[in-house]
Amino acid sequence: MTEKQTWSQRFETVLHPAIALFNASISFDIELIEYDITGSQAHAQMLSHTGIISPEEGEQLVTGLEQIRQEYREGKFQPGIDAEDVHFAVEKRLTEIIGDVGKKLHTARSRNDQVGTDTRLYLRDQIQQIRQYLREFQKVLLDIAENNVETLIPGYTHLQRAQPLSLAHHLLAYLQMAQRDWERLGDVYKRVNISPLGCGALAGTTFPIDRYYTAKLLHFDSIYANSLDGVSDRDFAIEFLCAASMIMVHLSRLSEEVILWASEEFRFVTLKDSCATGSSIMPQKKNPDVPELVRGKTGRVFGHLQAMLVIMKGLPLAYNKDLQEDKEGIFDTVNTVKACLEAMTILMREGLEFRPQRLAEAVTEDFSNATDVADYLAARGVPFREAYNLVGKVVKTSIAAGKLLKDLTLQEWQQIHPAFAEDIYEAISPRQVVAARNSHGGTGFEPVKQALIAARTQVLQQ
Ligand code: ARG
Repeated sequence: MTEKQTWSQRFETVLHPAIALFNASISFDIELIEYDITGSQAHAQMLSHTGIISPEEGEQLVTGLEQIRQEYREGKFQPGIDAEDVHFAVEKRLTEIIGDVGKKLHTARSRNDQVGTDTRLYLRDQIQQIRQYLREFQKVLLDIAENNVETLIPGYTHLQRAQPLSLAHHLLAYLQMAQRDWERLGDVYKRVNISPLGCGALAGTTFPIDRYYTAKLLHFDSIYANSLDGVSDRDFAIEFLCAASMIMVHLSRLSEEVILWASEEFRFVTLKDSCATGSSIMPQKKNPDVPELVRGKTGRVFGHLQAMLVIMKGLPLAYNKDLQEDKEGIFDTVNTVKACLEAMTILMREGLEFRPQRLAEAVTEDFSNATDVADYLAARGVPFREAYNLVGKVVKTSIAAGKLLKDLTLQEWQQIHPAFAEDIYEAISPRQVVAARNSHGGTGFEPVKQALIAARTQVLQQ
C-alpha cells in the first residue's frame, strides 16, 4: 500500500496515521522477509506450473523477487511504515521492479496463508539452529564430565547435604535435560513443517492450484488438510514456545546452581574474569551476571508462551488480526534462547573452574555417608528400617559430641552394633560411598563411565 492508497475501491479515505501505525507490523515482521520471498517464489513457480500464469510471467516474478532479496541483503531495501507489513512491502517493491506482472503474484493466495508459511519457514530454520546450540552446550558439559569422573561433589536434596556424587554424574544430569530439549524440538519440527500455502484467506481458492507442488518446493513434509485450520493454527508456535520454555527451565536451574556454587558459602567454583563482573562500589565483588541474566531471561520466555496461549484461547475460526501478535514473542524467544545457550556454553567452557580441593573437603565434612552406614548393616542382615533408626541415633550423638562418623572408634561402632568391623571406615569414605552406587543410572564410577560413552554417541547424532 502506498501512502495515499486506500485498500480497494470500497474505501474512500486512508487510515488515520495513528491507526496505520497501530496496525502495522513491518517494524518487526521484516525479520521474515527472506522467508516471504522464498515462499512467494514457490507460489509463483506453482502458478506458472499449473498454467494460472504464463511461464514468462512466472520467471519474471521469481527473478524480481530474487532482486528484492539482494537489495535487502545490501541494505538498499528498507521498507517504511507505509508498507504495513512485510508481505505488502515485497509485493509493492516487486511491482516497482517488474511492472504490472508483479500484481499477479497474489493470485490464489492470501496474506493469511502467506504469513503462516513465512512463520513456519522461519521457525524451521531457527529450530535447527537452536538444536545446534544445544549440541554445543552438551559437548561442553560432556568435556567437563569426562575430566571429572572421580571428582566428588556434595549431592543435595531439599538443598541439604544428602549423598556425595561424582561431579561427572551431576553434569550429565544437565546433559540429559538438554538431550530431551533437542529431541523435543525435533518433535515440534514435525508440526512446524506442514504447509498452509494454498489455504487462501480461509476457504481455499477457485484457481486450479497445486498445493503439493509448493509444499515440495519449500521442503514441507505435508500440507494442512483443512484450509480453516491451516490459516488459523498456531499450535506449532505454542509448542515451540513450550519447548523453548523448557530449555530455559533447564538453563535456569543450572544457573541457580552456578550462582550458589560461586558464593562464599559454597566456594565450589571460581568465576573467571572473562565471565564475571565487578561492583561499582564494592571492590571485593565478583558477580555471576551471566547465570543471573539467564535465570532472569527465563521469565520473558515463559511470558511469551503465556501470551500465545491467551491470544489463541478465544479466537473463532479462522484468521483474526490477533494472530499478528504471535511474531514478536516468537522472535524474542528465538533470540533469547540462542543468546542464553551461547552464554551458558561459554560460561561452562571457560568462565568457571571447579575447585577440587574445596570439593574434596566439602564431601568429608558432613553426614552424607549416613545412608551407607545403614546400608552396611542392612547388607549384614539387619532390617534396613532398624539400621536406619540406629544410625539416626548415632548421627544425633555424634553431632552432640562434635564428631563426624569417620571419627568414631571401632569400639564405639561395635557398641552401636556388633556387626560393625574395621571395614566400616572404608565403607563410609566419600570415594567408596560414591563408587559403591553402581546401580544402573547411579553415581558409581562404573555406571558414570558407561553414561559418558552413551552420551558421546548421543551428542554426535545430528
Ligand atoms: N501482518 C499480518 C500478520 O502478521 C499478515 C496477515 C494479515 N491478514 C489479514 N487478513 N489482515 O498476521
